[in-house]
Amino acid sequence: MRTVLVLNGPNLGRLGSREPDVYGTATLEDLRQECDATAAELGLAVDFRQTDDESQLIAWVHEAADGQVPMVLNPAAFTHYSYALRDALAMRTAPLVEVHISNPAARETFRHNSVVAAVADGTIAGFGFDSYLLALRAIAALLARDG
Ligand code: DQA
Repeated sequence: MRTVLVLNGPNLGRLGSREPDVYGTATLEDLRQECDATAAELGLAVDFRQTDDESQLIAWVHEAADGQVPMVLNPAAFTHYSYALRDALAMRTAPLVEVHISNPAARETFRHNSVVAAVADGTIAGFGFDSYLLALRAIAALLARDG
């Protein structure tokens, strides 16, 4: 069974209490469980992680590149300015889908640019936790198409 790395960047560990009007009241653990259930339906396994640390996130991206592991990534605020994360992702060797819970295009101007989008297969944003579930379906489709 193929494993998908689901990576979450800074402040996503605070889901549940973080700006509930924007991100809802469900927790990161709730999200993990939803990802597990959808992955099982798709015949995939999920390795679900969160960090507030840019170097840790980059180390995980390197690990995925070395192991040809597909990724669903919510880079959180790193989306908008981390060229280091973007360069790490450019080394990927398997499908990558960028996700956001909110719709950054409908929020503050500084959220409108993603430095990550150009090195991803695609981006899914604005559907709450369903963004991740749709991304897992996209990964399954990419794996079925490209192996
Ligand atoms: C986010 C959107 C980002 O702009 C923000 O910095 C986050 C969360 C989202 O999932 O909607 O931390 O990536």
